Amino acid sequence: MSIQQIRLFGDPVLTTPASNVTTFDKELRTLVADLTETMLEAPGAGLAAPQIGVPLRVFVWDVDEALGHLINPTLDLSDEMQDGEEGCLSFPEIRYDTPRAMRVVAKGFNMHGEPITIEGTEFLARALQHENDHLNGILFIDKLSKSNRKLAMKEIRESDWFAQASQSGVDIQVKESPHSMFGRNI
Ligand code: NI
Repeated sequence: MSIQQIRLFGDPVLTTPASNVTTFDKELRTLVADLTETMLEAPGAGLAAPQIGVPLRVFVWDVDEALGHLINPTLDLSDEMQDGEEGCLSFPEIRYDTPRAMRVVAKGFNMHGEPITIEGTEFLARALQHENDHLNGILFIDKLSKSNRKLAMKEIRESDWFAQASQSGVDIQVKESPHSMFGRNI
């Protein structure tokens, strides 16, 4: 197990759809362990494999003191929506109100290849949608209202991490501030 570099917005791996896992082997279990360790260290409440540069349909979460992981997920969303602030480990310090479905039923597999179903409401539902979007190359800024997206893009362009990443290429790691006044990112 090892902590991996979290890719930041601007890295093309974040906007590329990921592939299904076809082999449930030791390598996959190491990926789940690395994702979990990297998420906990950040600290974050969720992390998807593309965020550590692995283009596979795998994500992990840590919500309500429960760790989980899901492989090759498909999501059913409620019509009822929720509002709430959201951030992402690939966008340090950027947080905006992001509309999401209130409830999610997520089906997929665990790391041993066994089918599992996860039902989530509120923040777990939000995290499952956010991480599942990562597997499709969709980022939370894509889900914002037009005006919030405009504000978010301005804030991103003005951020130190984005300026650094733009100057030096994409292999730049900027860690979340340990003094962030906000909640954990996903
Ligand atoms: Ni994210």
